[in-house]
Amino acid sequence: MKVLIVGGGGREHAIAWKLAAEDAQLEIIAAPGNPGIALLGRNAKVAATDIEGLTALARRERIDLTIVGPEAPLDLGIVDHFRSMDFAVFGPTKDAARIETSKRFAKELMLAAGVPTASARTFTRADDARAEVRRLGAPVVVKASGLAAGKGVVVAMSIAEADDAIAMMLEGNAFGDAGHEVLVEEFMTGEEISVFALTDGTHVLPMVAAQDHKRIGEGDTGPNTGGMGAYAPVAIATAAIADVTLDRVFQPTLRAMRDAGCPFTGLLYAGLMLTPDGPKVVEFNCRFGDPETEVVLPLMQSSLLEPMRAIARGDSLAGSAPLQFSSRAAVTTVVAAGGYPGKVQSGDAIALPAPEKEVIVFHAGTVRDADGVLRTSGGRVLTVTALGDTVADAQQRSVQHAQRIRFDGAQLRRDIGWREVARRAGAP
Ligand code: AMP
Ligand code: GLY
Repeated sequence: MKVLIVGGGGREHAIAWKLAAEDAQLEIIAAPGNPGIALLGRNAKVAATDIEGLTALARRERIDLTIVGPEAPLDLGIVDHFRSMDFAVFGPTKDAARIETSKRFAKELMLAAGVPTASARTFTRADDARAEVRRLGAPVVVKASGLAAGKGVVVAMSIAEADDAIAMMLEGNAFGDAGHEVLVEEFMTGEEISVFALTDGTHVLPMVAAQDHKRIGEGDTGPNTGGMGAYAPVAIATAAIADVTLDRVFQPTLRAMRDAGCPFTGLLYAGLMLTPDGPKVVEFNCRFGDPETEVVLPLMQSSLLEPMRAIARGDSLAGSAPLQFSSRAAVTTVVAAGGYPGKVQSGDAIALPAPEKEVIVFHAGTVRDADGVLRTSGGRVLTVTALGDTVADAQQRSVQHAQRIRFDGAQLRRDIGWREVARRAGAP
């Protein structure tokens, strides 16, 4: 069987790693892939957003199953395109991907379906948005409606800060089309978790909950990044929370998507805030999260390939057994380039330590040059996942290995999973 993985980051490496671990005979091709995935299969020089190039590749290679990693090709309609040619493809259609690509669509769907989430209103005129900010008072949240590479959200602690965000998004053209519509949203408090679920549009197979760490600095300080690390499981994401998430979040959302004529198939990612009133949706994503995937999949004991293949073929998941996860813990520590999340330098030679048992180094922003030297190529360079009996144990092993990776300007956080470590330390 031949699988095409679209994308080339740590998430796609983790998907390739899990599939290869399940079936050594599987032929894996990644577009564009990365040097880590190349150890498990081969890379094709086709960009993740080159839909025509990917179509030609799938046809030429007689691909049996295509798995789409990032949101950009989903937003470009890769799934609609592949399906029209009868290619089995894992992911949502362009219309269904709006659950992520349009915050307005997602919010209206949730509010109509009674899915717990912060109340919000959408505005295109700055004056109206400013009036809403005054009505709600600070803290208040201002969001650009479209895809803004994770930078379209301002949690404003004052009215002035909210006004600045509105001016930047609606009047300053900071996010292009993505910012021509803003949501002004009620502020929520609580810890955040990420819950992934595989779905055929109706049936739901949830995965173990994870928590990511978006800030650059230890203790969750400093500017936001694409993610500096993640861990799983999360003790406060109890079985009761998982039940509520299934009954009140996943099922009504999928029903509303079917009713809206755009059933969601693939991987639905619920970003939840565990508020004093129960879990509430902060956002949905239409794909696996990065770097959460790098801890969730190494803990997954049941097959990923089987449900993915069923979903991609349009088969039902009715009667599928729940997904099984190890009772161990996983922590992934991102090793980022100097300057990240600002301007980074690329092309620095990377030296990796000898492989270690229960430690997996996923490639995120690396290239191999003509001489075979591994070099940095992007902000997040590598992410080091370690397993352990506890999160504290996994954290220690992850950090130890990550610190032995050498390249100019390498930076990492040594505290991924700190909330969980503190919880355990405080436990009787
Ligand atoms: P989003 O891109 O919608 O996930 O938002 C990015 C981050 O902003 C989230 O991970 C939260 O930490 C924060 N955030 C978003 N919406 C809210 C809200 N209504 N209340 C408090 N924090 C929020
Ligand atoms: N880890 C957050 C995301 O993938 O969007």
